[in-house]
Amino acid sequence: MWPEKQIPIQSSTPENRPPPVERRHSARYYAHRVKESLTTRISKLICAIFLALLILVGIITFILWLSLRPHRPRFHVQEFSMPSLPQESGFKNAQIVYNATVRNANQNIGIYYDSMQLTMYYQDQSIGGSQLLFPFYQKPKNTTVIAGELAGRNLTVTSQRWQEFMTDLADGEVVFRFDITSTIRFKISTWDSKRHVMHANCPVGIGPDGLILPSYKDKRCPVYFV
Ligand SMILES: *[C@@H]1O[C@H](CO)[C@@H](O)[C@H](O)[C@H]1NC(C)=O
Ligand SMILES: *[C@@H]1O[C@H](CO)[C@@H](O)[C@H](O)[C@H]1NC(C)=O
Ligand SMILES: *[C@@H]1O[C@H](CO)[C@@H](O)[C@H](O)[C@H]1NC(C)=O
Repeated sequence: MWPEKQIPIQSSTPENRPPPVERRHSARYYAHRVKESLTTRISKLICAIFLALLILVGIITFILWLSLRPHRPRFHVQEFSMPSLPQESGFKNAQIVYNATVRNANQNIGIYYDSMQLTMYYQDQSIGGSQLLFPFYQKPKNTTVIAGELAGRNLTVTSQRWQEFMTDLADGEVVFRFDITSTIRFKISTWDSKRHVMHANCPVGIGPDGLILPSYKDKRCPVYFV
């Protein structure tokens, strides 16, 4: 760097060449310049270290975010049946028996289910439902069974609707939609997230024997937040 700085002196004309005193000054001046460039280098180094630290912190934050990011609960329908379905006048004692599971797949995050509502749909119309489980807290890596039945007041099937089931059955299957609406909160260490309303939407097809068809069994239900 500093041989370059000498060039102006070598190229200066004799008349304005600095006297010896001035030379001593300029020597001091160059010493000053060296010191200055050293300072610049040090501040550049500090800047580089600071930037590297910043990038490192960013990467760590990103990894933490990836590992702490909550996974949504996973719903699967295990069993589902409508025992009276094969009968022509089965609507009088219509009943739906269900068994589903909800899994908290998170490693360190718990889930509070503040409420859980089951609604059964047939062709996008509600045919029944009920309130599920009391508010409960699900520990990380826990699977909880949601099992029960819908009948009587909780399952409204008219003879007309039953005829539609029969028509569907003649084609091989009756498809219902098993919908779980839940208000959940994530618990990350001691911090609770805000409430999220979540839907799990499980299509279930029932065959002529009144039981869930194998192709619908054990499927992971799509889950979305509203
Ligand atoms: C529901 O299904 C799960 C998983 O297959 C099983 O462990 C549980 O015993 C079943 N519960 C009922 C009430 O059928
Ligand atoms: C209907 O659902 C309610 C909860 O929503 C429950 O208390 C009641 O026992 C259910 N009745 C029948 C007949 O399943
Ligand atoms: C999940 O949690 C519930 C309630 O705390 C408990 O009854 C159940 O045994 C747990 N299941 C597993 C697989 O740990």
